[in-house]
Amino acid sequence: MSKQETLGLFAAYKRQGRKIVMLTAYDLTSTLIARDGGVDALLVGDSVGMVVLGHENTLPVTIADMVHHCAAVTRARPGIPVIADMPYGSFHVSPDETVQHAIRLVKEGGVAAVKVEGGRARGPAIKALLAAEIPVMGHVGLTPQSVHKLGGFKVQGRGRGAADLLLDEAAFLEEIGCFAMVVECVPAELAQRISATVTIPTIGIGAGPHCDGQILVYHDLLGLFDGLRPRFVKRYAELGREAIAAVKSYGDEVRDGVFPSAEHSFVDKSIVDRDPASQPQTPAEPGERGYLASVENGEED
Ligand code: KIV
Repeated sequence: MSKQETLGLFAAYKRQGRKIVMLTAYDLTSTLIARDGGVDALLVGDSVGMVVLGHENTLPVTIADMVHHCAAVTRARPGIPVIADMPYGSFHVSPDETVQHAIRLVKEGGVAAVKVEGGRARGPAIKALLAAEIPVMGHVGLTPQSVHKLGGFKVQGRGRGAADLLLDEAAFLEEIGCFAMVVECVPAELAQRISATVTIPTIGIGAGPHCDGQILVYHDLLGLFDGLRPRFVKRYAELGREAIAAVKSYGDEVRDGVFPSAEHSFVDKSIVDRDPASQPQTPAEPGERGYLASVENGEED
């Protein structure tokens, strides 16, 4: 395996001062698009709960949901590291249970590492994962699984005391052996300080330009999701709008009898040979790969 295919890329890119580009993925199609778009690593985020499964926040996501989506992503064999979010409740009860859940993500989901939200409070869980040889990505700042405790999705680490606390959490995650950490929704200056302080890469989301890498949610980047729209999201496309227009065109064509045309229909060649008058009446458009042409060229089926 080359370094690009392994978690080794995180340390290597930080050493080289090369930005790490991450994106979330949840299934075969999003994985192939992300890979072909050249991202360096994928996160099967528990954001799946909001952008795919229709939950209001990430709290209801289960380990079974995560295993299901991780397996869909890794079956695409993207050739880049795939990391799985540990969902809420899967690492809060005991270190033993935490390891059992993570082992499912590795064995059944096929991922190379897991991501755990939180700092010092998650120390025992993270240490148990590392002892079981499961690499861990940390996550500090806004940790969406703590939405109730935090009182909403709010910027974290504002003010001296809060900033120092976050710096301490980040240093702790490095010290216990995380290979990288997500830094979410904190002032850019604080993310810069964290990135300069820890030797492991910081992957920012809503944390300004100074992190060692960036991550976005797939549906946000592509403009596929109109739910929460935080300020830090940049939409690089409006595919949701295009998709709605395409579905409308499909509906119009079905209702008007335009689709399916001859081009999209099959024939029984033996009947056409015996009775040419039985050919579909819709003529192929000039320049189209017509229905008769495909039959004659033996392309049917
Ligand atoms: O669940 C998720 O997608 C995440 C990223 C946004 C960091 O945790």
